[in-house]
Amino acid sequence: MNMRSNIALSALVCAGIIAWLSGFASRQLVDPAEITEDAVKIEVAETTAAAGADTAKKDGPESILALLETADVDRGQKVAKACAACHTFDKGGKNGVGPNLYGVVGRKKQSVDGFAFSGKLAENGGDTWTYSELSHFIYKPKAYAAGTKMTYAGLKKTEDRAAVVAYLRTLADTPSPLPPAAEIAAESGVEPEAKPEEKSAE
Ligand code: HEC
Repeated sequence: MNMRSNIALSALVCAGIIAWLSGFASRQLVDPAEITEDAVKIEVAETTAAAGADTAKKDGPESILALLETADVDRGQKVAKACAACHTFDKGGKNGVGPNLYGVVGRKKQSVDGFAFSGKLAENGGDTWTYSELSHFIYKPKAYAAGTKMTYAGLKKTEDRAAVVAYLRTLADTPSPLPPAAEIAAESGVEPEAKPEEKSAE
């Protein structure tokens, strides 16, 4: 062994001893059980915060509720041509790649007879197709229901979503009532508040 490696070796040994000593010292100062408990608590808090930020960040769609009353139904029918590749809209229409959509507003999710649903659609937002649920689903089907069989990228434009949902509303013997003002306010009211939080969380 030459002089250099000798020095290196003693430096290593020294470092080891110092590390061991300081570890020993800190164990004297703080009960190790306490450390682990705190560390676990912090970890849990962080994951919860991250999960929260994630939900907020899901670049959720803008609410369509306030737009439904004046939405252009004819335009909705035109936009819905993109859906017609997989869906029929007439009463008693056949299921295609997707289920028949007559009467879908207010309908129980995944309840069309003779259609093999993925079973994933009710994992988010209850089990009824309200206006709001439809808007969220159509905005980005895969984000709304991971594992859905609907391979459709999504309808990002708020006016288009409002128009399509307003069109879907007409496909019923008795169209569902428009959302009451309180519901509109509640849904639109939550969003502006959520935005600053979203930023600070990032
Ligand atoms: C490429 C085919 C395809 C296209 C295009 C498509 N869908 Fe679908 N859709 C499906 C399939 C498949 C399902 C069943 C999803 C499941 O079970 O996960 C579905 C389910 C649905 C449901 C739920 C029905 C229920 O009874 O629970 C709605 C609502 C819906 N689609 C609306 C639309 C609208 C509106 C459009 C157009 C903007 C559209 N879809 C475009 C294939 C498609």
